[in-house]
Amino acid sequence: MFMKRHVLSMREFSKEEIDSVLDLAQSLEPLARGKKSSMLAGKILALLFFEPSTRTRMSFETAMKRLGGSVINLGPAEGSSISKGESLADTVRVIGGYADALVIRHPKEGSARLASQFSPVPVLNAGDGAGHHPTQTLLDLYTIRKESRLENLHVALVGDLKYGRTVHSLAYALSLYGADITLVSPPTLRMPDPIKADLSSKGTIVRETADLGEVIDNVDVLYMTRIQRERFPDPVEYQKVASSYRITPESLAGSQQNLIIMHPLPRVDEISPSVDDSSHARYFQQSFYGVPVRMALLKMLLEGDQVD
Ligand code: CP
Repeated sequence: MFMKRHVLSMREFSKEEIDSVLDLAQSLEPLARGKKSSMLAGKILALLFFEPSTRTRMSFETAMKRLGGSVINLGPAEGSSISKGESLADTVRVIGGYADALVIRHPKEGSARLASQFSPVPVLNAGDGAGHHPTQTLLDLYTIRKESRLENLHVALVGDLKYGRTVHSLAYALSLYGADITLVSPPTLRMPDPIKADLSSKGTIVRETADLGEVIDNVDVLYMTRIQRERFPDPVEYQKVASSYRITPESLAGSQQNLIIMHPLPRVDEISPSVDDSSHARYFQQSFYGVPVRMALLKMLLEGDQVD
């Protein structure tokens, strides 16, 4: 079902397909924790990161190696022929001849889709500007399914909902599971109108507020995000909204017992480190779950493609 497919946006996934990725990730978790496998022996994954990354880049590399495959890395753009003016199209055409799949992160929205039009092998979007980050959404859903439940949740998405690509992808996916969504952001960083309209057209209950205190005691999942400093055209505008929200043990005093707190990370100051040991914190488990989820995607995309 998944062979040779590009992974560009959550909109291309049905609920059934998401569930099948999450089920496979669950069965691969022992391998993600170190049990040996050679499922993808002989396969090569290429990493093309034109923006910084710790989790996505390293968990893809870990996932591929845990499955017995290997990884090639374009490295910093200035060390490649991109610095000589080579286009993204030519770059992916060439690297697609070396590897069995490409993972790409790029500051420009739409760049992964552009890459998919020139790549002879599957392209996985690891974040395109303020656009999409579908593999993050799959690991977010996996985390919610493991640490809470996926159906009929009340989720608060908090922080930079304008530039935060993880919340754009996640809001859409949560609508497939019947979640009620409260959007919490400064007025200047609201979720883009087309995304809200799309959620409403699917029957999702969407509320909007700038006041986290209004909702913190009533949600099942608190999904915090960083204000995306690098996407602000004007640093003065960033300073106006930096540090808008901060979760502390005190702010959680009235929260539901089963509340889970997630964050795609990296965090700046949205969650006090003193929350890390609370029963609500799940953000470090969440970043680990990137490994089994990306293993599942790679297995679905690449296995069965062996040439004897
Ligand atoms: N969550 C996430 O995308 O983290 P990185 O930017 O470190 O990859």
